[in-house]
Amino acid sequence: MELPYIEPYKIKMVEAIQTSTINQRKKWIAAAKYNLFKLSSDQVRIDLLTDSGTGAMSDKQWAEIMLGDESYAGSSSYEKLEQTVKQITGFPFFIPTHQGRAAENVLFSALVKKGDIVPGNSHFDTTKGHIEFRKATAIDCTIDEAFDTTVQHPFKGNLDISKLEKIVQKHSAEKIPFVLITITCNSAGGQPVSMQNIKQVHQFCKYYKIPLYFDSARFAENAYFIKTREAGYAKKTIKEIVKEMFSFSDGMTMSAKKDGLVNMGGFIALKNPEVYTSCITYNIIYEGFVTYGGMSGRDMGALAVGLQEATEFSYLQSRIQQVHYLGERLITLGVPVQQPFGGHAIYLDANKFVPNIPKEEYRAQALAIELYISSGIRSVEIGTILADRDPITRNNRYPKLELVRLALPRRTYTLSHLEYIAIAIKNVYDTRNEAKKGYNIHWEAPIMRHFTVELDKL
Ligand code: F0G
Repeated sequence: MELPYIEPYKIKMVEAIQTSTINQRKKWIAAAKYNLFKLSSDQVRIDLLTDSGTGAMSDKQWAEIMLGDESYAGSSSYEKLEQTVKQITGFPFFIPTHQGRAAENVLFSALVKKGDIVPGNSHFDTTKGHIEFRKATAIDCTIDEAFDTTVQHPFKGNLDISKLEKIVQKHSAEKIPFVLITITCNSAGGQPVSMQNIKQVHQFCKYYKIPLYFDSARFAENAYFIKTREAGYAKKTIKEIVKEMFSFSDGMTMSAKKDGLVNMGGFIALKNPEVYTSCITYNIIYEGFVTYGGMSGRDMGALAVGLQEATEFSYLQSRIQQVHYLGERLITLGVPVQQPFGGHAIYLDANKFVPNIPKEEYRAQALAIELYISSGIRSVEIGTILADRDPITRNNRYPKLELVRLALPRRTYTLSHLEYIAIAIKNVYDTRNEAKKGYNIHWEAPIMRHFTVELDKL
């Protein structure tokens, strides 16, 4: 028989999981105003809120923590990270930041101005927030296939060139400071972008002289999908594919909390020396001196090791097989999920799961709350609450997909945890017809409301 795959690591340190009862969780979620972000972690049994900064570091990363050089300027940990970023991405310029949105803040301060248009593939919410905060507009150019959870397409994160073309015709290329490709595309379900599509967008940008940037939080997972799904890449290493992907762009922002395998950190990497010079000034104002940018030396060292580990095939294979194991289990149990599965999470299709709850009553959020109460699993709504209001009309934006994201932290949970998650979801699915009412917004922040929103149960 063929031997099954195993995780390419064993566990050296463990952290206790807290248990609780349904009645306790009912009280806690009511006290949290039905916002899962407001729960404390010991009220959660399995935490699938995010894969961001929640993974486990390796022994080699922890060893780097002890070697951290905390010098304000010119620390050796910075140099290790700089060398690694340049080697892995191929970009000549590098600026550390404290996390991904900080990288967005610095880069967009240099590039985005009022009235600009930033086309992309379903921009992440902080990215959209940073664009809209500057009174610019983010336009979604993801291919239509991404918005039907049953369509089998290997690269649902791809951009539709005809949608990009229409934007240029309507607004002119001068209004577009850059096109942004998010790899993998988180908001569309952790879906990858193919190398062919990256090349097409690059050609498009070159023709109109528009720079092309990547939001690269899960760039290594994207490279894994290119290797395993796209013709011509099976024999290439992940590191070769990563280099090729980045060769088509002018720069990247990075949330190292994902494919950097660290708990905190980020960076910008760039081709253009003028953009680099401009970013440095903003980095010093917002983040810190250029050789630390909001990160401690030890964290930069751990990130340098994490980037190497995250771009190893064996790590990525086990990571993505774990996510897909959960997806397969849910399909076997008849639960509607986004297909094909993405890299970092499985997404429940709330439109199909709880269609009886009106979309105006935030059905995906209602489903996430029910899953928490019944099993202690914390997930996150990727639906109307996250989509926020239109900045001009202030009306709710109803996205085509109402999803509940089950994001798997890296190297953190085992197969039995996945089994628990699958059965817990099946149990909620079996009682779905009883769910008819959702929630009302009691209070919300003017921007990025999902983190702090307060809800009333209807
Ligand atoms: N870009 C993408 C595609 C992201 O998924 C995130 C964060 C960011 C940028 C911002 O990075 O958190 O380091 O400031 N995503 C997390 C998530 C929060 O749960 O998906 P950050």
